[in-house]
Amino acid sequence: MLKLKRNDYCWCGSKKKLKKCHIDFMDTLQHLHSKGYDTPSLSLIKTDKDIAGIKKSSTLTHQLLDELNTIIKPGITTNEINTWVHEETIKRGAIPAPLHYKGFPKSICTSINDVICHGIPDDTILKEGDIVNVDITCIIDGYFGDSCRMYSVGKISTSAQKLIDVTKECLDLAIKSVKPLQPVNVIGEAIEKHAHKHNYSVVECFGGHGVGNAFHEEPFIFHYKRSDKQMIMVPGMVFTIEPMINEGGYDCNILDDDWTAVTKDGSLSAQWEHTILVTETGAEVLT
Ligand code: MF3
Ligand code: CO
Ligand code: CO
Repeated sequence: MLKLKRNDYCWCGSKKKLKKCHIDFMDTLQHLHSKGYDTPSLSLIKTDKDIAGIKKSSTLTHQLLDELNTIIKPGITTNEINTWVHEETIKRGAIPAPLHYKGFPKSICTSINDVICHGIPDDTILKEGDIVNVDITCIIDGYFGDSCRMYSVGKISTSAQKLIDVTKECLDLAIKSVKPLQPVNVIGEAIEKHAHKHNYSVVECFGGHGVGNAFHEEPFIFHYKRSDKQMIMVPGMVFTIEPMINEGGYDCNILDDDWTAVTKDGSLSAQWEHTILVTETGAEVLT
C-alpha cells in the first residue's frame, strides 16, 4: 500500500487515481511510517465485497447473541447453549468458527464467573447469581463476524453488575477512540484509563485482532496502554475490540484443557466484544 504512486488507483475502492483521492492521507501515512509506526498492507484493507460479506456474518452473530437473552436462565447447561447456537447457526446457512479451530471442541466459548475467556461448554449448570460470557463467531461465504456479550443468570450481585457495566463502557470508549491515522495504541489507552478509574485490572494475555477473511488476522489489538508504536488505522480495516476486565489482579492461568483461561486470584472477570470497521471518520460497529 505504501508503494502506490500518484497515478495508481487509490486503495480505497473509489476507482479514482490516488492523486485525486487519498493523496494527503497517503502523505500523512508515509510520514507516520517514517516515524516508526506500522502501517497496514493492502491485504488488510477490505474491499466493498468483503465488507458486505463480513456485515452478513456479523449480523447473524448479533442476532444469535440477542436471542440468547431469552435462553440463558438458571438451570441451563453451557452444553445446551452450545447445542442451540450450533443448530441455529447451521439452520441459517452459516458455520460456527470455533468448532475444531486449533482443536477447540465446541461451537462457542462460554466463560463463567472467574473464567476470563475460552471456556469450553460442558455439563455445568448455570445457577442464580452467575455471570457468563458467550462468544460467537459465524462464517458465511468465508467471511467472519466475531462478538461476545455478558449475560446474568437470574439475579446477580451489584458488584458483578458493576463489573459487567464498566467492561461494556470500556468497549464503548475504545470504539469511540478509533480514528483513521491514529495508532491502535489509543484503544488500549481508552480501556485502561476507564478500568483503572474503577480499580479494575485489564487482562494482558489476550487481545483483539483483525478479522473478516479469517478468524484471526493482523493487527493484534492490545487492551492496555503501551508505549511502542503500533499499527496506524486506515479506513477499510476490520478488527475486534474485546476487553477482558477483572475485579482483582490481571494475572491469568490456563487450565489443563489447554483453553480455559481463569483469573489467578479467583476474582470475577467480564468481557464484551465487537467486530468494527474503520471508516473515514471513526468506526462502524458491524456486530
Ligand atoms: N472468539 C474468540 C475471539 O474473540 C476466539 C475463540 S477461539 C476458540 O477471538 F477456539 F476458542 F474458539
Ligand atoms: Co475475537
Ligand atoms: Co470472540
